Amino acid sequence: MIILDGKSVAQGIKNEVKNKVLELDKKPVLSCLLVEGDSASEIYVKNKQRACEECGLISRLIRLKHDISQQELESVIQKENNDRDVSAILLQLPIPKALNGDLAINTISPRKDVDCLTYENLGKLFSGKGKIAPCTATGIIRILDKYNVNLQGKLAVVVGRSLLVGKSVASLLEQRNATVVLCHSKTENMQEITKQADILIVAIGKAKFITADFVKDGAIVIDVGINRIDGKLYGDVDFENVKEKCSMITPVPGGVGPLTVACLMENTYKLAKEQQKL
Ligand SMILES: NC(=O)c1ccc[n+]([C@@H]2O[C@H](COP(=O)([O-])OP(=O)(O)OC[C@H]3O[C@@H](n4cnc5c(N)ncnc54)[C@H](OP(=O)(O)O)[C@@H]3O)[C@@H](O)[C@H]2O)c1
Repeated sequence: MIILDGKSVAQGIKNEVKNKVLELDKKPVLSCLLVEGDSASEIYVKNKQRACEECGLISRLIRLKHDISQQELESVIQKENNDRDVSAILLQLPIPKALNGDLAINTISPRKDVDCLTYENLGKLFSGKGKIAPCTATGIIRILDKYNVNLQGKLAVVVGRSLLVGKSVASLLEQRNATVVLCHSKTENMQEITKQADILIVAIGKAKFITADFVKDGAIVIDVGINRIDGKLYGDVDFENVKEKCSMITPVPGGVGPLTVACLMENTYKLAKEQQKL
């Protein structure tokens, strides 16, 4: 069994970005909008800022009060859209329930939409015409490639159908000629389906949900979940229970998380490069 080393693959991606950024006319700027109130988001944003520094990108953090109105939030986004210095905009999710996340995300200019979540960019992604894809989905494909996993014709089962992860990675897998099944909370007999998967990708946000009974012998398991319990991180996969059954598995932490950050750096670079062409 091979433990897929997300940290080292992420480091490789960041090193590439660092070198490529030097060729640009000016340093890309990633503007990160953080609506205060979510402690995990504070940690993620700090990691992203650190990665920007490592890669030679400029990170701009805009802190917004928890009770910000929809109109105020959208006007901050518009300001960043219109700022020629800003290459990429990330609205850190989740945002408070009182706000309309869809509307806020779709206020981001598609040219600066670094996590590829606007309807315009998702449409391109699902049509196979996207220049970038959501960072987590991209990271998953990058690590599978790095470990020479052949996707063509393989049965890939994705559990979880968010736009951010499940639907996006399902689309990328299908574009790489995998046969894809997308499961969700209403899926019946899910275990029967996941047990057939050559590649099993889980993004549901339920600690240790996937046990060995859900996994085929020799499967490749990608655990996207990040669940904090008493200050400790757990994936959606019961790692100890599953690891001997699969041929490859990502750990939590140290698997998909660092890849997401590295691909955020790469997407920022790509958007900056596109803008400098104009
Ligand atoms: N590692 C990273 O970089 C990274 C990045 C993003 C997210 N994450 C983590 O990944 C997890 C998922 O994130 P998300 O944003 O995709 O979450 P989300 O938007 O809450 O979506 C969760 C999905 O899981 C499905 N689901 C929930 N319980 C299920 C069950 N018992 N059986 C089957 N499907 C079930 C839901 O189905 P319905 O659609 O039917 O409700 C939904 O589609 C979270 O732990 C999050 O923290 C990690």
